[in-house]
Amino acid sequence: MRDRLVLHRQEAARFTAPHRFDLVLCVGATHAFGGLLATLAAARRHLAPGGRVLVGDGFWEGEPSAEAIEMLGDLTDLPTTLEQVVADGWTPVGGHVSTRGELDDYEWCWTGSLASWALDHPTDPDSARALEAATTHRDGWLRVYRDALGFLCLVLRPTGD
Ligand SMILES: C[S@@+](CC[C@H](N)C(=O)[O-])C[C@H]1O[C@@H](n2cnc3c(N)ncnc32)[C@H](O)[C@@H]1O
Repeated sequence: MRDRLVLHRQEAARFTAPHRFDLVLCVGATHAFGGLLATLAAARRHLAPGGRVLVGDGFWEGEPSAEAIEMLGDLTDLPTTLEQVVADGWTPVGGHVSTRGELDDYEWCWTGSLASWALDHPTDPDSARALEAATTHRDGWLRVYRDALGFLCLVLRPTGD
């Protein structure tokens, strides 16, 4: 396994590779490319013939407040998201819409582990910052977007491939 894994720590949109890939993944990071369609355009450049893209992105499951839009960007509802993807030349061949429980688990998981790390490392110079980041994020999740945000993972093939 080790000889088949290469990790790159860099600006995602600048990634180049000497070959193309059978599977290109981007889950929860479309902001790194400027949105869902820009992410798919980048993924297409890395995809081998017959390959698939696994992309995970947010959508509005409920009515977003102005603050939620400000925080999470210009998302659309689920059917419109699919329409945009299909119009962009992709055929969805699989997918998963996260449940509220899965999204809650995700938020608790990272805010909780960050807060726990801060308590375990009270003298670390980053401890207070970590606790504050966890608290601020948890507050935004619960107050601003928990009722509005959905999350979708799609497996896509280029249409006509
Ligand atoms: C919400 S996390 C998702 C992480 C992972 N894909 C997952 O599903 O657990 C977003 C990730 O995107 C990374 N990221 C954000 N902007 C980026 C950029 N411009 N270039 C590369 N990575 C970026 C962050 O460091 C973070 O690890």
